Amino acid sequence: MIDYNPQAKQMADESMVRNLDAQARAIWPQEQPLFGRYELGAEPYILDAGCGTGKIASRLAQIFPRARVLGVDIVDSHLDLARHRYASFAPRLSFEHQSVFELNAADGTYDLTVCRHVLHSIPYPERVIAELVRVTRAGGYLHLIPEDYGMLHFQRGALDPADFWHVVPVRFEAGTNTDLFIGRNTVSILTRLKLDTIRMDYVVVDTLRVPRETFAAILEAWRDGYVQSIGELTPISTEQAKAYFDTMIANIRRPDGYAVWMVPVVSARVPPTKEAS
Ligand SMILES: C[S@@+](CC[C@H](N)C(=O)[O-])C[C@H]1O[C@@H](n2cnc3c(N)ncnc32)[C@H](O)[C@@H]1O
Repeated sequence: MIDYNPQAKQMADESMVRNLDAQARAIWPQEQPLFGRYELGAEPYILDAGCGTGKIASRLAQIFPRARVLGVDIVDSHLDLARHRYASFAPRLSFEHQSVFELNAADGTYDLTVCRHVLHSIPYPERVIAELVRVTRAGGYLHLIPEDYGMLHFQRGALDPADFWHVVPVRFEAGTNTDLFIGRNTVSILTRLKLDTIRMDYVVVDTLRVPRETFAAILEAWRDGYVQSIGELTPISTEQAKAYFDTMIANIRRPDGYAVWMVPVVSARVPPTKEAS
């Protein structure tokens, strides 16, 4: 039987809350200007699909001060935290328990549909992207961050992190029915779904653009949340996985060290004629 949420444990873990905070600090400054490209109406309706703890949904409510923003997720503790943290934006910003596989919205509801850091963690990402397209209006936009675990590069230390990234994602995705290289596959999916204005941009999380402690916090959260499953699903043991992560973290923290995570940001427009087709 397919597990539709194979990373449920990691997603609900305390390390994920830390990770989402650090990822927002690392990624948002380069990502925010990309939202300026979308031609949205004066009062857009925005969906954040798989919103986690709601930080980005709240930032969308900030940069689009007349927008209504709905964040949906299936982890209730994240939704509770989001409602508590961002209560000052209510009712313009709200949070609901909904699955991205079956959104509770009529066709063409949203002007902008955002889905960040979700598609790599679930089976059938193409089905979910089609669902995101369904709920987006003709002429509206999709803004996706589909992670790709072939886009991280570190210097060699006590170990060579390239060996880790060569082996772990391939075995982890096989064990979880996911695509950990969905970043590079998303443009093809959007093309098959006949979207237009398809763009691939990159947020560059590296030791020159992002504070070392912020970048290190992401790797620490991944280490704390994932080494046990890596030990279970891949030929790399939990102890080895921890040693690889510690090598990467030391690389990031070394004052002359250089490391980079290329984060794909894929956007596209639903053709204005969608309803007619
Ligand atoms: C890595 S977090 C990203 C959170 C947020 N989008 C951000 O960028 O900070 C992935 C989120 O996707 C959620 N998720 C996983 N499967 C889901 C599903 N089927 N429906 C809705 N949310 C889901 C998880 O619960 C988790 O909160």
